[in-house]
Amino acid sequence: MIKRGGAIRALLVLGCAAASIARADPTLIAPADPRAGPPSSSQTHGASFVGEAACRACHPVETEHWSRTTHGRLFRERPRNQLEARQCEACHGPGSDHMADPAAPGLLVAFTRERGTPPATQNATCLRCHSGGSRARWPGSIHERADLACSDCHDAMSSISPRGLLREEGINETCFICHPGQRRDFRKRSHMPLLEGKISCADCHDPHGADTPVLIRADSVNQLCYRCHADKRGPFLWEHAPVVESCLNCHLAHGSSRLALLRATPPALCQQCHVQSAIVGHATPLLTRDELALGGRPDERLMNRGCVNCHSRVHGSNHPSGARLHR
Ligand code: HEC
Ligand code: HEC
Ligand code: HEC
Ligand code: HEC
Ligand code: HEC
Ligand code: HEC
Ligand code: HEC
Ligand code: HEC
Ligand code: HEC
Ligand code: HEC
Repeated sequence: MIKRGGAIRALLVLGCAAASIARADPTLIAPADPRAGPPSSSQTHGASFVGEAACRACHPVETEHWSRTTHGRLFRERPRNQLEARQCEACHGPGSDHMADPAAPGLLVAFTRERGTPPATQNATCLRCHSGGSRARWPGSIHERADLACSDCHDAMSSISPRGLLREEGINETCFICHPGQRRDFRKRSHMPLLEGKISCADCHDPHGADTPVLIRADSVNQLCYRCHADKRGPFLWEHAPVVESCLNCHLAHGSSRLALLRATPPALCQQCHVQSAIVGHATPLLTRDELALGGRPDERLMNRGCVNCHSRVHGSNHPSGARLHR
């Protein structure tokens, strides 16, 4: 426990220490940056900066952990502007009021749920330095609208992940905190090799925001799939209309209990669109038990890969006579 009297003494002593460090080492104060100044928060209105040494006195463990993070090394060793040189207070805001009364909530920008700083205030603090890149699409994104804070996915106080300052060791684990259903998808019989470590959620989704629905990291679902399955892009002499429209007409994106991530198994998959009685090349409708592999009049369309036994170029054909997607 830290007593009030102790806190004020620490403030006086360390406040002076911090000021003299700043005077002695001019490199700590870079040329004025237009963004410099306290984070714009009603929470810290009127408070003044006390310097990192003051924070360290009461938070030695957190300071130790923070010092090894990307921010810690950069802000401490080669700050590029006045805001970075503020170190702890670049994120937490000016700390004088907090030092005077550490237990009172709302006297600095805190990033844990318990402390009650609104997510919008927290995020504005991070976005002062990180509004570029995909964060330009953060405002209005589904995660922003769901009231997520940057710190729901990022832990800026420790280096849990090798990169990206994530809350868990890897990207997928971080997403699974709130999307456990997707973990189940990737455990199905046929699945994208995500749990095997070959790809991650962030290969397909941009957690910060995207111009396409469902945070897709491409202009369309097909453009996304073509990135890794370039052979499906074509151009094909004979295209198959549903493939050009969307891979998701037949496939699921994460995992499926059927072969090849399919939504349904052929022939059922194909028959959703190809009504048998209308097909010239196939007189018999596939409706009876007799047509199953062990029935009286077995039909090849119900064996093995079903329709794909013959229509093997289901994604498109480049053969001069491949109009029926046979070859
Ligand atoms: C005099 C000692 C003291 C000083 C100096 C001090 N703190 Fe604290 N701080 C505390 C105590 C004690 C708590 C815990 C209060 C509680 O649990 O109710 C706390 C809580 C916090 C929290 C909230 C933790 C949470 O649960 O989210 C943050 C963030 C924080 N301090 C940052 C700082 C920063 C940054 C500085 C320097 C500007 C600083 N503190 C200076 C004593 C201090
Ligand atoms: C880059 C922004 C940033 C900087 C710089 C920063 N913090 Fe934090 N701090 C955070 C975030 C984000 C959290 C919430 C971490 C979490 O959710 O566990 C946090 C949490 C804390 C907590 C609560 C306990 C904890 O670890 O969760 C304390 C105390 C704290 N910071 C003190 C400090 C001190 C002292 C410094 C400087 C040595 C500092 N912070 C620098 C962003 C920052
Ligand atoms: C004062 C400016 C500043 C603030 C405030 C700030 N950052 Fe950073 N951050 C940087 C700089 C500089 C880097 C390193 C260079 C880069 O990647 O742009 C960085 C790097 C990062 C990285 C990549 C780290 C890595 O090792 O891959 C993440 C993630 C990050 N910041 C998240 C946050 C979050 C979350 C917050 C708010 C809690 C925050 N930052 C607040 C300046 C800032
Ligand atoms: C839903 C989870 C999630 C949220 C919320 C989130 N991020 Fe990220 N962020 C990630 C992931 C995943 C990465 C990728 C890490 C990698 O590539 O290793 C990342 C990377 C970053 C990076 C470093 C790489 C880059 O793109 O420059 C920065 C900086 C960053 N995030 C800042 C933020 C800020 C600021 C916020 C809040 C406005 C935020 N993030 C909110 C998940 C999230
Ligand atoms: C702190 C919780 C949390 C974390 C962590 C999180 N998400 Fe989300 N995510 C949500 C919420 C809440 C929604 C809003 C829709 C909902 O309720 O499912 C959402 C929505 C989404 C959507 C859009 C779903 C739709 O139907 O449009 C995608 C895609 C998504 N998240 C991907 C990710 C990825 C990728 C990560 C990891 C980088 C991640 N999320 C991490 C909470 C989270
Ligand atoms: C191979 C690319 C890919 C990967 C990897 C991927 N997704 Fe998706 N995800 C998609 C596509 C495409 C959709 C759109 C599905 C639709 O519209 O029916 C989607 C949909 C979603 C949705 C909306 C609800 C749903 O299930 O349809 C969420 C949430 C989501 N993904 C989260 C995640 C998370 C979390 C991860 C990592 C564990 C992840 N995704 C990995 C491509 C991917
Ligand atoms: C980041 C790269 C990447 C993206 C994007 C991607 N895939 Fe894949 N996909 C893979 C890898 C890797 C495999 C495994 C290939 C292997 O093991 O030979 C795979 C396998 C598949 C399989 C075969 C699965 C099986 O069980 O046989 C299908 C079908 C598939 N992907 C469809 C899609 C669709 C549809 C999309 C777009 C929503 C997509 N992929 C996007 C990398 C990707
Ligand atoms: C009309 C339904 C349909 C559409 C649309 C479709 N596929 Fe397929 N796909 C299949 C079927 C059926 C199989 C299984 C083929 C087999 O049994 O060999 C398959 C297999 C695959 C495979 C694994 C075997 C291989 O050929 O590499 C990949 C990868 C794949 N599809 C990617 C895609 C991509 C990418 C798209 C979108 C451009 C797409 N598919 C659109 C029906 C479809
Ligand atoms: C989402 C609807 C849809 C699904 C599912 C679908 N198709 Fe198609 N298919 C079409 C459309 C639309 C055409 C173009 C018809 C036209 O041009 O008259 C087509 C054309 C074809 C053709 C060429 C026929 C011709 O007259 O040129 C063949 C063969 C074919 N599909 C086989 C399949 C097979 C095999 C499957 C299952 C693996 C399948 N289709 C699944 C919609 C679908
Ligand atoms: C034993 C091989 C074989 C199987 C299995 C098979 N087809 Fe065919 N399919 C053909 C042949 C042969 C044609 C006629 C080609 C022609 O007339 O040019 C054809 C033609 C078609 C056509 C174009 C019909 C038209 O009007 O010209 C479609 C669509 C089609 N098949 C869909 C399917 C579907 C759906 C299945 C699965 C239920 C299936 N096929 C299974 C051999 C097969």
